[in-house]
Amino acid sequence: QNNYKVTVCGAAGGIGQPLSLLLKQNPLVSDLALYDIVHTPGVAADLSHIDTKSKTAGFIGADQLGDSLKGSDVVVIPAGVPRKPGMTRDDLFNVNAGIIKDISNSIAKNCPKALVAIITNPVNTCVPIAAEILKKAGVYDPKRLFGVSTLDVVRARAFIGHALGVDPQTVQIPVIGGHSGVTILPVLSQSQPLFKGNQDTIEKLTVRIQEAGTEVVKAKAGAGSATLSMAYAGARFAGSLLKGLNGEKNVIECSYVQSTVTEATFFSTPLVLGKNGVQENLGLPKLNDYEKKLLEAAIPELKKNIQKGIDFANA
Ligand code: APR
Repeated sequence: QNNYKVTVCGAAGGIGQPLSLLLKQNPLVSDLALYDIVHTPGVAADLSHIDTKSKTAGFIGADQLGDSLKGSDVVVIPAGVPRKPGMTRDDLFNVNAGIIKDISNSIAKNCPKALVAIITNPVNTCVPIAAEILKKAGVYDPKRLFGVSTLDVVRARAFIGHALGVDPQTVQIPVIGGHSGVTILPVLSQSQPLFKGNQDTIEKLTVRIQEAGTEVVKAKAGAGSATLSMAYAGARFAGSLLKGLNGEKNVIECSYVQSTVTEATFFSTPLVLGKNGVQENLGLPKLNDYEKKLLEAAIPELKKNIQKGIDFANA
């Protein structure tokens, strides 16, 4: 078909703008709808001058959310607020969770069959919130809802590639679990080429991948969290969803989805993507003893994160 509508919710933000720029370059996109509560007319006008085929339109304010989503095939959501002075983590959670709830309700009305990719943090909790809201609206399809954990794979590829002196683009590595701290489980024993090292080197690299977001937060010194690398990862993931929609075979990405692979009801594993979203869950890669211990540490944390989302959606 080759022509798909993609909506970016939060398109004016630090992630949203470069993400929209990258999507503007995707030849499978025919319509790019940019939604935010600020600045989208300007961002859309700017992007619309780029000489690629997609038509770009800006939508601003809650009144225009529905129009931005109408008929969308893929919705990517980096909308959210960063933490401001005086805000607790719970305040931040409540605002972002509320944003996900509102957007999910509008998706249910305007594009119930869309593939939805959530970037807004905490991803581990925001995806279950969206699932509950879509369920209440009677349109939930677990094969069509994704948490974007691609940045963890992208980072693992970069770190391994540079450490081994090979092109990171040639590195394959599953990163499973969730998308924060100890829930991120890079399966280094399955990397290709194999990342060989003693246990200390392996643990250091594992922790670096788990804490890579904090590395960026520290370096940005108060100016926010990862935006450019997250936009790259979000565009790669959305691009894979589009390839799947378009009938390409063997499109594989790790993503955080509803899952029966472990006791955590949402969990990231490698997935084959197809015309209806998840075509096949490839399940847990082979884990060594160290990775099994990491999995044991991840599960209770993930379960807590998931329950928090279910409770928020049903409060
Ligand atoms: N609807 C749509 N967009 C919204 C809403 C809303 N209700 N509330 C805020 N936004 C927009 C903001 O106007 C802003 O343009 O979301 C965008 C967020 O951009 P930034 O503040 O620059 O934050 P960013 O660094 O892009 O991170 C966004 O992604 O990775 C996560 O933790 C991150 O949750 C955060 C989100």
